Amino acid sequence: MGIQMSDGSMRKNILSPSILAADFSVLGEQIREAEAAGAAYLHIDVMDGVFVPSISFGMPVVKSIRRITGMVFDVHLMIVGPERYIKEFAQCGADSITFHLEAAEDAEDLIEQIHGLGCRAGMSIKPQTPVEAVRKYLKHLDMLLVMTVEPGFGGQQYIPESTERIRQIRQMAEELRTDLDIQVDGGITRENVRTVLDAGANVIVAGSAVFKGNITENIHALTAQF
Ligand code: DX5
Ligand code: ZN
Repeated sequence: MGIQMSDGSMRKNILSPSILAADFSVLGEQIREAEAAGAAYLHIDVMDGVFVPSISFGMPVVKSIRRITGMVFDVHLMIVGPERYIKEFAQCGADSITFHLEAAEDAEDLIEQIHGLGCRAGMSIKPQTPVEAVRKYLKHLDMLLVMTVEPGFGGQQYIPESTERIRQIRQMAEELRTDLDIQVDGGITRENVRTVLDAGANVIVAGSAVFKGNITENIHALTAQF
């Protein structure tokens, strides 16, 4: 269920199903099924049609589903000017807010603001952003999200070069002795989940691999490898 760290503590592996791949006509039921099957987090992809080509959903959806589940709400903001909306997402029930480094005006300030709202702070990088760009933020962050596809759509193929990027960021975090969560998002399946865990990721987003087909069975197939 995790990996032993040098100080003897355990790093926990967590599944975060992405509702982008859910059937929105029965969203509540599908979330309840994911929770019952053992998923601890719920990954909520917010897209604005500017930072990424597509548009997904926003505050009203988050607010509605907050009433039906106690899962940790892991909000992934794929929007320009994320500083404009963090307060509203916190008020709607986000527990963790992740913004994109490429979209932030002042990432350090944003991390502080997210913490000030009582949320965990995450920062994400797209596949083309050099991993070195995150180093100076790691000790302030709760989570670093390594995008393993170009953000914007579910159902894409995992980019193989991501494995080395995850490994490098885990190494950076270890050098800094920070107990960082490393999240991966995009193209994660039951076939490659072990690869990303071995590289150092511990928060696993899965959209299609959870919501396409039998949700309970899919979750068990993924978490059995944790
Ligand atoms: C993509 C989103 C992902 C997406 C993952 O931009 O950030 O969270 O839902 O979907 P799958 O797991 O189907 O690649
Ligand atoms: Zn996402």
